[in-house]
Amino acid sequence: MLLWVEKHRPKTLSDLVGNPRTLARLSEWTLEFKQGEAKKKALLLHGPPGSGKTSAALALSDELGFELIETNASDVRTKDAVERKVGFAASLASLDPDSKGKIILIDEVDGIHGRSDFGGLAAVKKIIKSSKEPVILLANDAWGLPADFRALCELLEFKRIDRRAVLKVLKRIAASEGVEADEKALSIISSNANGDLRSAINDLQSLGQGGTVKISDVSSLFMRDSELSIFKALAQIFKTDSCDRAREAMFESDEDPETLFNWISENVPLEYGDPADLAQAYHYLSRSDIFLGRIRKRQDWRLLGYASDLMSCGVAVSKKKRYKKFVRYKYPQRFAMLARTRARRNLVGEISAKISRRCHVSTRLAASEFIPLLQNLFREVGRAAELSSYFGFSQKDIEFFQPDTAKKIHEIAEKISAERITPKTHQTSLF
Ligand SMILES: Nc1ncnc2c1ncn2[C@@H]1O[C@H](COP(=O)(O)OP(=O)(O)OP(=O)(O)O)[C@@H](O)[C@H]1O
Ligand SMILES: [Mg+2]
Repeated sequence: MLLWVEKHRPKTLSDLVGNPRTLARLSEWTLEFKQGEAKKKALLLHGPPGSGKTSAALALSDELGFELIETNASDVRTKDAVERKVGFAASLASLDPDSKGKIILIDEVDGIHGRSDFGGLAAVKKIIKSSKEPVILLANDAWGLPADFRALCELLEFKRIDRRAVLKVLKRIAASEGVEADEKALSIISSNANGDLRSAINDLQSLGQGGTVKISDVSSLFMRDSELSIFKALAQIFKTDSCDRAREAMFESDEDPETLFNWISENVPLEYGDPADLAQAYHYLSRSDIFLGRIRKRQDWRLLGYASDLMSCGVAVSKKKRYKKFVRYKYPQRFAMLARTRARRNLVGEISAKISRRCHVSTRLAASEFIPLLQNLFREVGRAAELSSYFGFSQKDIEFFQPDTAKKIHEIAEKISAERITPKTHQTSLF
């Protein structure tokens, strides 16, 4: 028993749902490239999380019998590292005599743009220009990348997966996992996923462990109305240039200013990519915080208007231009959980890195989406041991999830690992 997102990852391009034309163009371009006919040397697959970009690239290499040289750009910090990991492999002939060729896959290219450690994107550019192999880049937000970088690539957009298609996949997975699921419950999970199949499947697994998914289970998982209204308010404050609209969003949200303050300050860095915008937004937030403090201490509610305006209008006008990207806003508690102690944070980092390698996701996503799922799955010792063996968790890692039974889980996991015959994977990892 492993993670369903991995177990049910589409094996072929035709297994993927949604975006049919994009998928057809993906194989067409790769073949054009191999015949020396491609106009661009790289393909940039972009679109929201969980829409099938990584899955498409994996299926493509599998179907064509190409070796995949894969790296996750956002986890590779510097120019040197990008070149070491990918550049070298790109210029090298294959060692595998059966290989029909290679595909260079660089995930999360939008993650390396604008970092303080320069040159990552420059290194990727160099690889595109010099590579003899097709280069496939993945990003959530293509429009945040510099125009001259985009000009090197053919852009292929992955759209959010349609709610009905998500539902179809969930039904198929539930049936194959022997989960008796209420149609209405699956339908709610599908709508809630907002086009992100990964999160829908993770939710299904989280709820379906007991063998059934009922409506009552679903309602416990999802956002309360008040949370939904926070998401709306955040989107409105972050996306608008108008003070009035930002203020309006705040009043319509029905949340108390302190709560809203936490949500805004937690999420503003996800939205505002430009450091100058972010600095300006935090400047207003810190002022707002001072007013909130005074209100708390002196119960002087006349100051509320200032606090509210600074956090809504102040943040809204801090950006020079509107960000078009899609942002999945986060619950502030998650960060509080990660921030509790440094040791714990380091451990979260290590665990996330292990998940990231196995599941082709960034460490950030591993922490926000997979750790909560594993926390749930670790309640049962046998399953915890299988997962630990799969991810290669140490006893310390296991203690993070299950402090009391970690030793036992670890012992069983070691046995499972010793017995397992390592399956041959279709891809080459340079890590
Ligand atoms: N189009 C799809 N058809 C079937 N399953 C899908 C599809 N898209 C996503 N999935 C499921 O969701 C999981 C995650 O998808 P994938 O890794 O391809 O997303 P992604 O677009 O690369 O997201 P991210 O931008 O976060 O990297 C897959 O393992 C698979 O189980
Ligand atoms: Mg991906």
